[in-house]
Amino acid sequence: MQDPARYESNKSLAARDANIFVPVLMSHMPWRKNETIMDYGCGAGSTGAKFFLPKLEYNNSHMYSLDVSMKMLNHAITNYPSPRITYAVGDIVSDEFPFPQILFDKIFGIYVLHYIKDYRYFLTYSMLKRNTIYIKVFDAGELFRNALNT
Ligand SMILES: C[S@@+](CC[C@H](N)C(=O)[O-])C[C@H]1O[C@@H](n2cnc3c(N)ncnc32)[C@H](O)[C@@H]1O
Repeated sequence: MQDPARYESNKSLAARDANIFVPVLMSHMPWRKNETIMDYGCGAGSTGAKFFLPKLEYNNSHMYSLDVSMKMLNHAITNYPSPRITYAVGDIVSDEFPFPQILFDKIFGIYVLHYIKDYRYFLTYSMLKRNTIYIKVFDAGELFRNALNT
């Protein structure tokens, strides 16, 4: 995914699905004050700005948004700047992960996991605080199975 304008035009399946499923998932999650959240593979930034940012503002929380694509990230930085979001270029499964010291309350990966070859490594990589939440959206069938188990 290297075309932020096309992605943001809402023509992609990913954007369509995010608009449908992210609000549903969020409505089933507890939201606390002062949370630290990660949005990996944040892409062009619209999902984070549209759905997560209002929660960050309401709860005095902060989000770290990263993407391997500088092109996608630049679009997010330009179009969705916020003091509540720290953007960084980075790969979720490399040693160059930009936030190695941070433990997260929630990790979102909306339509990203299918890009990651060694996803088992990612899933065992310990970036979550205890009793926290990891949500990935990349296939609607799996989404429903996960939602039913929460
Ligand atoms: C389909 S887009 C989804 C963007 C965003 N999550 C959204 O909901 O609009 C997938 C994004 O994941 C990024 N990506 C792929 N592999 C990644 C990795 N290993 N680490 C971080 N980002 C990655 C791509 O550059 C792309 O911007």
